[in-house]
Amino acid sequence: MALKISVIGTGYLGATHAACMSSLGLEVVGVDLDPAKIALLQAGKVPFYEPGLEELLQEQIGSGRLTFSTDFSAISGADIHFICVGTPQAENSLAADMSYVDSAVEKIAKIIKPGSLVVGKSTVPVGSAERLRARLLELNPAVDLAWNPEFLREGFAVADTLHPTRLVVGVATPEAEALLRQVYATNLAEQTPWVVADLPTAELVKVAANSFLATKISFINAMAEICEAAGGDVTVLAKAIGYDPRIGSRFLQAGIGFGGGCLPKDIRAFMARSAELGADQALEFLREIDSINMRARSRVIELVRSELGADLRDKKVAVLGAAFKPESDDVRDSPALDISVQILAAGSDVVVYDPKAMANAASRFPALKFAQSIEECVANADIVLHLTEWQEFRTIDPTQLRTLVRSPLLIDGRNALDRELWQSAGWRVLALGRADTNPRES
Ligand code: UDX
Repeated sequence: MALKISVIGTGYLGATHAACMSSLGLEVVGVDLDPAKIALLQAGKVPFYEPGLEELLQEQIGSGRLTFSTDFSAISGADIHFICVGTPQAENSLAADMSYVDSAVEKIAKIIKPGSLVVGKSTVPVGSAERLRARLLELNPAVDLAWNPEFLREGFAVADTLHPTRLVVGVATPEAEALLRQVYATNLAEQTPWVVADLPTAELVKVAANSFLATKISFINAMAEICEAAGGDVTVLAKAIGYDPRIGSRFLQAGIGFGGGCLPKDIRAFMARSAELGADQALEFLREIDSINMRARSRVIELVRSELGADLRDKKVAVLGAAFKPESDDVRDSPALDISVQILAAGSDVVVYDPKAMANAASRFPALKFAQSIEECVANADIVLHLTEWQEFRTIDPTQLRTLVRSPLLIDGRNALDRELWQSAGWRVLALGRADTNPRES
């Protein structure tokens, strides 16, 4: 008989996990407190943009294995319960807000059947799993709790869930591992590395991985600052160091830095937790990683001022990109939006265009203006800022675009456009970490 699982919390992580587990042949019920979200999912619609997910969702609903409900009692027949609720940054500290995870455990403890396993997937401060396991067993001694961190990237969520780079399971009992092996039998048959850990190590793997990635990005952005000061080119530097297999070329794209729902809040929560553990010195460097990251945003604004003058009032600034990265409509802690809002606050007329993220951006920052196309966005602009490297922006014809702007001035905040192409079309192009190679005015 097919294994039955439940997924608690149907946001980015949960909705993807539910559809993917169903496609692996499991029977899945997804539950969430938000009736609007559940109604959309029941109708086969994904409440956010994630390539390939909607098709998979519809296919799996059609198979009869995947259902959604706001009624938590729907999970009672499942063998395994994946907790996929959010752990955002708390309102008034760097720590993660654990209230959603805590209340999920409280809510399901007495509904679930004996012998079933609760599996946390949310990113949590180390020590949470042991605490939650103790609480769960207090409420229901016939069940168990394990931790199975998720490493999916937005934009690649389906592929990352179906073919993960590794599966990490934090377990307290061999029975828990055996159940998780059944869930991931397809992946195990494909030789996906299977890492068994204790509960704290499993929790730490996730934040350690994200801290490493954040460090890599801030490292190259620090090199960008040095390149600017020394007249070097960070894109060439990144390419050259990336050939060393010990370093590797991924995550060395210098620019306005990392954002999104994970990296920024995960490194902050990690620092906060290390302080609680009395080990704050060990993660002191993450404070610097965060500062380098935030500085990249202000450096773009300084570059705008150096071109347009200190007074940005009444300047028309066109911004290409609002999402925190391409192939996503997620604007949580988006560097592109942060920069847009700061320039707006300086008095400029800021118009933003993004292929997918404008609705989310508008609901967060209604004071920004949005255009329906690249052309409308850049019309009469004094400067164009390229802040999220969507494919659509790489295929812009700079000669044609030049006819629309007031001044052909581009800042490539992601070092992703073809600088020579734009320059040969008559644009003045500036980028973080690259010396000014624009033809001198005579
Ligand atoms: C990240 C982790 O990659 C993933 O494993 C984890 O599960 C969740 O957090 P995600 O938030 O989807 O995934 O984005 P990611 O692709 O890691 O990019 C994060 C940010 O870093 C983006 O804002 C991106 O623009 C930026 N970035 C990435 C750079 O600035 N330079 C790079 O070279 C790479």
